[in-house]
Amino acid sequence: MNDNRPIGVFDSGLGGLTVAKEIFRLMPNERIIYLGDTARVPYGGKSEETIRRFGLQDAKVLMDKDVKMLIVACNTVSSVAMDYLQTHIKDIPVIGVVLPGARAAVLRSAEKRVGVIGTAATVRSGSYARAINNIDPGIKVYCKPCPLFVPLVEEGLIENEITQMVVRHYLYEMVDLGIDCMILGCTHYPILMEVIQSTVGNRIQLVDSALWTAKEAQNILQAMKMTTGDDVNGLQSSKFLVSDITPNFETVAETLLGVHLPGIEKVSVEELEEKQP
Ligand code: DGL
Repeated sequence: MNDNRPIGVFDSGLGGLTVAKEIFRLMPNERIIYLGDTARVPYGGKSEETIRRFGLQDAKVLMDKDVKMLIVACNTVSSVAMDYLQTHIKDIPVIGVVLPGARAAVLRSAEKRVGVIGTAATVRSGSYARAINNIDPGIKVYCKPCPLFVPLVEEGLIENEITQMVVRHYLYEMVDLGIDCMILGCTHYPILMEVIQSTVGNRIQLVDSALWTAKEAQNILQAMKMTTGDDVNGLQSSKFLVSDITPNFETVAETLLGVHLPGIEKVSVEELEEKQP
């Protein structure tokens, strides 16, 4: 049995393309419909109520396109709104990025000291600490919001001196806490992987939630016999929806995905706002 419908993936903006990239790498025949709410990004500094509302609107746009699975490729929405989304969406599997990242960190931390970096809302929610301590209550979890990382990535300042300074500013104290593993708890952060790794040193393993989320999606699709039977190039047959096409949109998208984005369409904010619980 196969299910040839696309996988729905959404993020507050373009950061979730790091998850899309891993999906195409693991499951090259799967098509996705990606929604990036580029008009309303960032979500990370917004209230819980707004993050939940935006998250459900994004999910509903994709549900209306008959997706077979929903991947919440945004740590902020996954941290604040997973239960809310799951109460509204019952027909298809809904997965977020927090649990897969937390599970990977638990397996990796021999010292039982894990660092988590993310947006202010992600850190405030305590989602990663909860997920990690549900698996192993003995693990100490240290969280740090790094709000400047997202704009640096959006500006394409990846290997820049300014980025190195900001990374040092946020992460030096993390290193002193004796962690041996650090979760990149924001979809933009894998893009800064190299500069983060060189700043914290090789003793600390970095966990990229994007990679582990794609693996979880693959496991679920296989277990539920919902993988595609189509022999197509998933990336080239995928659709990318955004709520705003900004001047540096293509550059950022190509940095995140590593290739030129095919099939970009605009979904207006009005259309998003029409979606009610
Ligand atoms: N995509 C968001 C996340 O992973 C980062 C950007 C934002 O603040 O919306 O948390």
